[in-house]
Amino acid sequence: MNKKKYNIPVNEPLIIGNAIKYVSDCLKSGWVSSEGEYVSQFETKFSNYIGKNYGVSVVNGTAAIELSIEVLDLKKGDEVIMPAFSIISCILPLIKKGIKPVLIDSNLYDWNMDVTQIEKKITQKTKAIMVVHTYGLACDMDIVSYLAKKYNLYIIEDAAESHGVHFKNKLCGSFGHLSIFSFYANKLITTGEGGMILTDSKKYYQKLKLLRNLGFNNKKRFKHDVLGWNYRFTNIQSALGLSQLEKINKFIKIKKVIGSKYSKLLSNISNIQLPMPNNQYSTNLYWVYGILIKTKKIILII
Ligand SMILES: Cc1ncc(COP(=O)(O)O)c(C=O)c1O
Repeated sequence: MNKKKYNIPVNEPLIIGNAIKYVSDCLKSGWVSSEGEYVSQFETKFSNYIGKNYGVSVVNGTAAIELSIEVLDLKKGDEVIMPAFSIISCILPLIKKGIKPVLIDSNLYDWNMDVTQIEKKITQKTKAIMVVHTYGLACDMDIVSYLAKKYNLYIIEDAAESHGVHFKNKLCGSFGHLSIFSFYANKLITTGEGGMILTDSKKYYQKLKLLRNLGFNNKKRFKHDVLGWNYRFTNIQSALGLSQLEKINKFIKIKKVIGSKYSKLLSNISNIQLPMPNNQYSTNLYWVYGILIKTKKIILII
């Protein structure tokens, strides 16, 4: 396929390492659907890498958010506090279920949700805080975790943009009651399309597996106790994901080199604000290299 000469992609996937070997293994063996050993291998290895007990892979990150909302049994009229600045995937399942999103603007330093605004937005109806780690710097999980505990709220942690980013000494995605990732082709590790939900709760894990698989009953197939989705992830995608995970440290290194290069080259331009190389508790992985354009009246985040 022709690549446009002046198009700068957000990310070009690097299909390296064992990718061809593992994917060929699926093709040669015929295990191409959601059945196959790579699925559980990828789920286990990815959840171990992040530091969670269980992983449930699904078709994409948007589906991972949707099933997280479903598994927490959030209902019409409940409120979820979340950042105003994120992809529509975060708000979509809330709107569809009549759950009220309570939006919090970004801070102007690392562009994550301004966590100092959370507490005053908590009401009797608040059930969860949805955190999104934006572009490669972690959101302040100390404050979020403290407030979640104080007010008995769930944390839904969207780490779709932050594979490998640390908050202090723990990885993003290890803080949520439910944490989600995307493996879309522009993400740090990719399976083409794909996503995963991580949790420490066996109860959520079992329910998530049911929901992603049309609610098929484990003991009596074609007896459905819940209304589910077909959000199953394939063995081929998992094989690719496993090979990508094996190379994650290399990808992190590359992203950091690219980010530093941009910072150096853009450092003399006066009316833009560059991304912070680090905030108080994390080092920028530069998944996306954003800039703020300072105009007279407004600041645009690109
Ligand atoms: C923060 C965030 N959440 C969720 C998603 C949705 O992931 P997917 O594209 O795999 O549905 C994305 C994708 O870009 C994202 O950046």
